Amino acid sequence: MPKKLEQLHEGKAKRVYRTGDSGLYLVEFKDDATAFNGAKKGTILNKGVLNNRISAVFFRLLEARGIPTHFVALVSDREMLVKTLEIIMVEVVVRNIAAGSLAARLGLQEGTVLPCPVLEYYYKSDELGDPMINDYHIKALNLATPAQMNKINDLALKTNEILREYLRDKDIELVDFKLEFGLHKEEVLLGDEISPDTCRLWDKKTFKKLDKDRFRRDLDNVEGAYEEVFKRLTGNN
Ligand code: TMP
Repeated sequence: MPKKLEQLHEGKAKRVYRTGDSGLYLVEFKDDATAFNGAKKGTILNKGVLNNRISAVFFRLLEARGIPTHFVALVSDREMLVKTLEIIMVEVVVRNIAAGSLAARLGLQEGTVLPCPVLEYYYKSDELGDPMINDYHIKALNLATPAQMNKINDLALKTNEILREYLRDKDIELVDFKLEFGLHKEEVLLGDEISPDTCRLWDKKTFKKLDKDRFRRDLDNVEGAYEEVFKRLTGNN
């Protein structure tokens, strides 16, 4: 296992460390939670451990189905080894059901099933509050090439199909989620995390929210929701 060296970056939910291997980073998942671009702050007990493990389940599944990801191995409860990525500063949101900012912006009732998946892009900038952008902005700001964006669209939609089907089987509806991509030796890889922090997950029968919306909206038992997702994915308690 390559050695954990100095911290390169601290984000709102994770820390990234250099390792003894120049092609690998170590990612550490924190319990810190923020919402509304950091305006709301808190802690979700054990979130780092659960998001590390849940992300590993999803990355392994996606790799097995042909989606290239940065995931290499789980190292500890809160740490995973990943391929180094030069992050593309575009956050990609895929939506199957209207919720959150889409429901608000277009006046749709939360829970309205969309007839086809909706893909959106946001400029990854805390300073600007992640504004929504389109292909023209991405080209003009030189955030990614058209060829990279074609690849990203294809990977995002395939990821949606794979996760949606997998989660349905666990009685979870994949409402929407956010992905980040990066370049590793010029190859586009899926990066960041896939967890209840970055997805909206509803129980298929009761529509109970099993994700970070419980924190954003001050609902009870946030920890329990993350644990419930982990339990359904792995069958573990
Ligand atoms: P939204 O409805 O607030 O735009 O969120 C869409 C999806 O993206 C939802 O699953 C939560 C996720 N998301 C993040 O992962 N990070 C963010 O900063 C935001 C705003 C949303």
